[in-house]
Amino acid sequence: MKTLIEVLEDARRNHVAVGHFNFSDLVAFNAIVASAHALKLPVMVGVSEGERAFVGVRQAAALVKCAREEFGMPIFLNADHTHTLAKAEEAAKAGFDEIIFDGSSLPFDENIKQTKKAVEALKSINPAIVVEGEIGYIGASSEVMEKAPENISALTTPEEAKQFVDETSIDVLAPAVGNMHGLLQSMVRGETEKRLDLGLIAKLSQATGAFMTLHGGSGTNDGDFQQAIKSGITIVHVNTELRLAWRRGVEAALKKGEEVTPYKILTPAFTAVSEVVTARLRLFNFM
Ligand code: G3H
Ligand code: ZN
Repeated sequence: MKTLIEVLEDARRNHVAVGHFNFSDLVAFNAIVASAHALKLPVMVGVSEGERAFVGVRQAAALVKCAREEFGMPIFLNADHTHTLAKAEEAAKAGFDEIIFDGSSLPFDENIKQTKKAVEALKSINPAIVVEGEIGYIGASSEVMEKAPENISALTTPEEAKQFVDETSIDVLAPAVGNMHGLLQSMVRGETEKRLDLGLIAKLSQATGAFMTLHGGSGTNDGDFQQAIKSGITIVHVNTELRLAWRRGVEAALKKGEEVTPYKILTPAFTAVSEVVTARLRLFNFM
C-alpha cells in the first residue's frame, strides 16, 4: 500500500483532493469505508480528541488496520485537532498515520514554538508520520449553529504561512481561507454557503510549497471546493454534514415505531452517511 505522503503527492499531481471524514462510531466508519471502496479512492478518516475519547485511540487504529487488510484499500487515520503533545504522542504510538497539532488558538509565536516541538517529538516516534499544523482559529465545533463564532481569526497571509512552515517543518498546513468549522442553520436550510478566498489559496500554495488542508468543509460551495483543489488544496475535511446525515437517518428509523434492534435503527444512518461521503468524494475527485 502507498504511504500517506505518496497518496498526497499523487493527488497533488492529478489536481484532486483526498477526502477526510470524521467518525464517532462504527456506523459512520463503515459508511466511509464502503463509499471509498466502491469508488476505488483513497480516503482519510479522522477522530478529534472528543471523538477518540468515545471511540478509543487503539480501537480507532484497529478499525483502520482491519479495513486495510479486508479491502486492501488505502485508508489513513488522522488524530484530528490535537491540542496537547501528550495526546499527540499517544496517537502516534497507537499507529496513527497523521497527527494534527492544533495550536491555532495560541498567539502566532507560541503556535510556532509548540508545533515545532510536536513535529520533533512525533517524528522521533515514527519518522514516516505526517504532521499538520494550523494557523488561524476557524471555530472549534462540527455542530449546527445559529450564528458564526465571534472570535474567528483573520485570514492567513502568505508571509505568516511561509514563516510557519519553514520554522516548524510541518508536512501539511491548515490555513484560514474563509473556511469555518460547523454549519449555520441557514446552510442547513440551503439559504447560504461557505465561500473561500481562492486567490489567497493559490498564493499560500506558492509561498509555502506545502500540502494544504481545507478544514470546515461542510456547507462549502461546490465550485469553490473544486477551484480550491485546483489552487493547491490536497486534503478536504468534512464532518458536520456526516453528523447531520447520521442524525436524520436515526430520526427516520425511530419514527417508524417501536423498533429495538440497533442494527435496524442504524441502517438508515449508514445509508445517509454513505450518500454524503460518496457525493463529496466524487466532487473532490472530479468524477
Ligand atoms: O476537522 C474537521 C473538519 O474541519 C470538519 O469541518 O464540520 O465544518 O465539515 P466541518
Ligand atoms: Zn477541522
